[in-house]
Amino acid sequence: MASHSFASIKIATFLLLSSFLIAASAGNFDQNFDITWGDGRAKILNNGALLTLSLDKSSGSGFQSKNQYLFGKIDMQLKLVPGNSAGTVTAYYLSSQGSAHDEIDFEFLGNLSGDPYIVHTNVFTQGKGNREQQFYLWFDPTKDFHTYSFLWNPLSIVFSVDGTPIREFKNLESKGIPFPKNQPMWLYSSLWDAEDWATRGGLVKTDWTKAPFTASYTNFNAQACIWSSGSSSCSSNSSGNSWLTQSLDTTGQQRIKWVQKNYMIYNYCTDTKRFPQGFPPECSLA
Ligand SMILES: *[C@@H]1O[C@H](CO)[C@@H](O)[C@H](O)[C@H]1NC(C)=O
Ligand SMILES: *[C@@H]1O[C@H](CO)[C@@H](O)[C@H](O)[C@H]1NC(C)=O
Repeated sequence: MASHSFASIKIATFLLLSSFLIAASAGNFDQNFDITWGDGRAKILNNGALLTLSLDKSSGSGFQSKNQYLFGKIDMQLKLVPGNSAGTVTAYYLSSQGSAHDEIDFEFLGNLSGDPYIVHTNVFTQGKGNREQQFYLWFDPTKDFHTYSFLWNPLSIVFSVDGTPIREFKNLESKGIPFPKNQPMWLYSSLWDAEDWATRGGLVKTDWTKAPFTASYTNFNAQACIWSSGSSSCSSNSSGNSWLTQSLDTTGQQRIKWVQKNYMIYNYCTDTKRFPQGFPPECSLA
């Protein structure tokens, strides 16, 4: 009996410790990110629970994950620049390095007060992008925090907003289309000015009298394979990684259809002016 309860205490302590370790690897900005530029315009606040980026006429700002990831289910809550955010771009993306890099992008294009933000998405494989899809949102992204997620595993890449999938990029390597699966990526975010193209294609410029512009981040959560010294934290450990084999179920497919029908404003796969010679191959296979 005694040894039995001793064992349960050990197990309970182990569970407590391991949940502590998992919790510690989520959320905290000090532990997970480095501020990479902006000369004081990016700030980690509330003991690491909140991060803010700001932009004024002289500079924007940005941060980068300490870890590199090779696959992950990565959630972040963002509250975008409120009020007149025209000309500003908040970029939130995964990217590897080099000319043949892979990249998975969310970019939030600001607007005049009350006019809709555009959520711009793209997927680069081996240095080649040109796979833009753009959406409006079904809520005001500047009023509250909302969750923006990447699910990136060997089967597909899924972009989600508050748990609703908005875009899927399937692994179609068997059809000759490259898929990001060999190059570890860092997670990056930055707030910068792109008044020459961001809002209504550049017609609406940034109103610098409203600066500084600020975007906020909280509740970072990564279930991810961390890449370090040439090996993955997942290779020795398949338990607790169900996201690695997850793909969109029927409900997810229906949600994507709903978003694409009601909120998609641009899809490279239907832009005949841009691709007069025919659409990229994944468009007809997806
Ligand atoms: C800004 O608002 C205008 C007018 O509603 C809209 O056409 C445009 O798509 C919106 N978003 C951006 C980023 O330009
Ligand atoms: C194994 O998976 C668990 C649960 O997801 C995680 O907490 C732990 O860090 C992983 N270990 C390694 C070596 O990746």
